[in-house]
Amino acid sequence: METLQTQPTSDLSAVTDFYIESVEQSDRAIQMRWSDGIDTTYHSIWLRDNCPSAFHPQTGERCFDLLSVSQNIHPLSISLDNGTLIIEWSEQGHVSCFKQSWLREFCYSGELGKDHSSSYQSWGSEFINQIPEQSQQEIMTSDRALYEWMSALNTNGIAIINGMPDDSEAVVHTAKRIDYLRQTNFGMTFDVISEKDPINMAYTSLSLPLHTDLPNQEVPPGYQFLHFLSNESVGGESTFVDALKVLEELREDQPEYFRLLSEYAIPFRYHDQDHDIREHHRVINLNNFGNIVEIKYNAHIADIFDLPGEVMYDYYIAYRQLMGRLKDARYKIELKLAAGEMVVFDNRRVLHGRNAFDENVGKRHLRGCYVDRSEFKSRLRILGKQLAQKNDPGI
Ligand code: OGA
Ligand code: ZN
Repeated sequence: METLQTQPTSDLSAVTDFYIESVEQSDRAIQMRWSDGIDTTYHSIWLRDNCPSAFHPQTGERCFDLLSVSQNIHPLSISLDNGTLIIEWSEQGHVSCFKQSWLREFCYSGELGKDHSSSYQSWGSEFINQIPEQSQQEIMTSDRALYEWMSALNTNGIAIINGMPDDSEAVVHTAKRIDYLRQTNFGMTFDVISEKDPINMAYTSLSLPLHTDLPNQEVPPGYQFLHFLSNESVGGESTFVDALKVLEELREDQPEYFRLLSEYAIPFRYHDQDHDIREHHRVINLNNFGNIVEIKYNAHIADIFDLPGEVMYDYYIAYRQLMGRLKDARYKIELKLAAGEMVVFDNRRVLHGRNAFDENVGKRHLRGCYVDRSEFKSRLRILGKQLAQKNDPGI
């Protein structure tokens, strides 16, 4: 064991107003006490793997080969110099320098460990008056407006764009302000019109019960854009439910049903003359921290369940319970969107549907496309960084 004491230093960056007060070395890790009394631990193997020299100076990608050192790598000496932690390693004669601001930012232990709670805010039917909205012109011309609208969409899973040009390509131009589109078997874009010879229920005038699109894909599309080019039929209102809200309540009230739906996978299948696309998925998807990150739900393309015999009946009970809850009016938003409006929602969180419409009265035509979640989140980060650099007071 070795303890170092230190004094305030000049590297008091934007990330922290605190400095390392003392450093102590144990078997596999280094413990630090900070000036605000917080204790943190960094494993030697982690520090060596993340030495600033481990990353390519231009691409920022890691070029260090972790297997070039042993798992027992440890410091021979540790020192602090003007806010920099300097470690001389037991292998390869390597020396690493870590800024204390960096150590604070990337700390993974104790009180300073990352907050893994969800940044989503779930909603029920009351949200109808709070759906974030922005004009297409602002979205197209202002990065700040785009950033704020996308932030609200990220948190709430749904947002509207109004003032869309009466142009069938407008959905593409607008979605591309975020990033490239996700192509599917229905094309780069799709037209939702009642057809004589439909290949899917959306292309009829029937009602569409709440669903997520394409759970039959290995990764269903992320954000869905639906531009209303016309909606003059009788009926054809859009319906939305935040599955996050429904699932949070299911988890609370009926944990056993929640468990079945989040542990067992069911088959989904879309097929027509040219395609037969199938995947098994869990209806409820959690991340490693137990946060609900996705629902895959579409009664039309759920295929023939092939669960183990001893689970089948119980699963049906849980699945029916979820179906029933999704119909509860407490959760539902119903809107008649008009020509010039576009609704955008996270297809992996917010269920959507529509009421039946009369195809003989007025016209109903929607044009849609998708942008995936990774691209959406990336754009949000980049916009945030760019606007912060410009020192935009709005960020
Ligand atoms: C769809 C769909 C909704 C609508 O095309 O997947 O859900 O309002 N359409 O027609
Ligand atoms: Zn749909």
